[in-house]
Amino acid sequence: MCGIVCYVGNKDAKPILLEGLKRLEYRGYDSAGLAVQDGEKIRWSRAVGKIVELESKLNGVEMKGTIGIAHTRWATHGEPSEENAHPQRDRDENVFVIHNGIIENYHTLRKKLEREGISFRSETDTEVLAHLIALNFTGDLSDAVRKTMSQVEGTFGIGVIHRFTPGEIVVARRGSPLIIGVSDEGHFVASDVAAMARYTNKVVHLEDNELASVTVDDFSISTAQAKHIVRSTETVEWRAQDAELNGFPHFMLKEIYEQPMTVKNAIRGRLEPGEGVPKLGGIMPVWDKLKECRHMVLVACGTSHYAACVGKYIFEKLTEIDTEVGLASEFRYRKLNFPPNTFVIAISQSGETADTLAAIREAKRKGASLLGIVNVVGSSISRETDAGIYNHAGPEIGVASTKNFTSQLTILTLLALLLGRHQSLSLTEGIQAIRALESLPDLMQRVLSQANHIEAISEKYYRCRNWLFLGRKYNYPIAMEGALKLKEVSYIHAEGYAAGEMKHGPIALINPEMPTVAIIPKDEMYEKMTSNIHEVKSRKGPVIAIATEGDDRIRDVVDDLIEVPATLDFLNPLLTVIPCQLLAYYCAKFLDRDIDKPRNLAKSVTVE
Ligand code: G6P
Repeated sequence: MCGIVCYVGNKDAKPILLEGLKRLEYRGYDSAGLAVQDGEKIRWSRAVGKIVELESKLNGVEMKGTIGIAHTRWATHGEPSEENAHPQRDRDENVFVIHNGIIENYHTLRKKLEREGISFRSETDTEVLAHLIALNFTGDLSDAVRKTMSQVEGTFGIGVIHRFTPGEIVVARRGSPLIIGVSDEGHFVASDVAAMARYTNKVVHLEDNELASVTVDDFSISTAQAKHIVRSTETVEWRAQDAELNGFPHFMLKEIYEQPMTVKNAIRGRLEPGEGVPKLGGIMPVWDKLKECRHMVLVACGTSHYAACVGKYIFEKLTEIDTEVGLASEFRYRKLNFPPNTFVIAISQSGETADTLAAIREAKRKGASLLGIVNVVGSSISRETDAGIYNHAGPEIGVASTKNFTSQLTILTLLALLLGRHQSLSLTEGIQAIRALESLPDLMQRVLSQANHIEAISEKYYRCRNWLFLGRKYNYPIAMEGALKLKEVSYIHAEGYAAGEMKHGPIALINPEMPTVAIIPKDEMYEKMTSNIHEVKSRKGPVIAIATEGDDRIRDVVDDLIEVPATLDFLNPLLTVIPCQLLAYYCAKFLDRDIDKPRNLAKSVTVE
């Protein structure tokens, strides 16, 4: 979704801002722009489409200055157009603003400003901010921004420059993340550390309702009530090279291949094999309460929601805890009535998904304790939960989530195992689970070694316009995740179904042009899944099976077979999801899609 990068330092701002924007491309956007200040002169440019469009527009254009603001926009109010792109400016072109988030009372404010004689150039809510800041300005930009913050409702992360306060950027946050980066070249402010990873890993997080005045050699943070805040820098474990392709054609493929390593990272230092118990330092602050917990709710969106759906089955298998899953965007509208000592676990790669954040805030209000399973260190969800466990999967750049899904499953398994071992799970069962977890990275590697075979299957079917994914129990959410992946990156219509439900509807669609991906590892669901496969075959539907190595019985029935090594039933999803990811990737490749930045999608969805 929208991205912000600002720079004030001792170097030319334009190339630094353009490079920062490119590093934010993965978040998803439809237009981009920047403004660079040189004394009292501010020059700006905006373009619809990719950053290269902006770059080519700027080719040969003189834009001197060592201070500037830049933005990638994902349209919410007004179509993607040059006039709707950011920066937005006031009537006299004194104030330039970039903005992430949504100003909810913008309509009322706009009407009021129009009555006062201000005409608007764009359809954006952001333009309201530019006019208000200009009207509130009496010489101190921070004061003008602070006053504007008190007039607007909704969410924002903003970067502002003013013609009459050269050398200063003012940034402010309510609901949309902003991070100040401290480097030898000067200061950065960005919505995402990726934008400045090349220059620094020393950062300061801005909290909600705070603003900061940032200059070349200083920054000063204060609250909306003008109280000065002292906050020291943190070091983020983000290496610039982690956000490079390193020889892979796409980040999605690179991240699929990283999974043996990222699963290893998720379990590293977290296992006590002899005791059959994981150790999870991050949840120790709430351990006394957590070990007594009997009711748990997993909330998330998108791929993280499907991880939660698998997690529910894993919790049911390993613990005595009554576990439910909530789709974050719906959860907060329910009449929540938690039993005592309920834990709500937010699962989120970015830690910034607006619906997930809203869900945990509502859960907190209703008395639940909060845990986070998050990848981005220092993100809003990691800060607003009582305790949590980080994925340690490194930056995920491909918009379609892959490696974080398997990290989330690994962490959910560790947590369930830890709680289960304090309940009825035996030492033998604990040791067996830990051994199986330790062997997963090698088994994942074996699945990846079939990439060429999966590519060939994709080549056979990528022209089919409708696909069905079927699974049962642990692999029902994998069917849904497989369908989601295919939709996201190849734009092929796909449905993920609980195999038992097929006969209640989707079976009407089966024909020789509609492939079914059947996820059928050797587990207690095997016989039932086999019957479902026969039902598809009898209606001449082609079947691609994802089955356990050596399953010759299924080989004879299906059209195409992808084998996964045997493991414990509740760990199968960590293997069966990989062929689904690869099928989606290769179909998208054959269809020549923009795999890492699919149309209309955003990596981090910061609006509800
Ligand atoms: C977006 C992304 C998905 C992701 C979902 C939830 O839709 O495109 O890949 O699964 O948001 O994101 P989160 O960061 O909360 O896991």
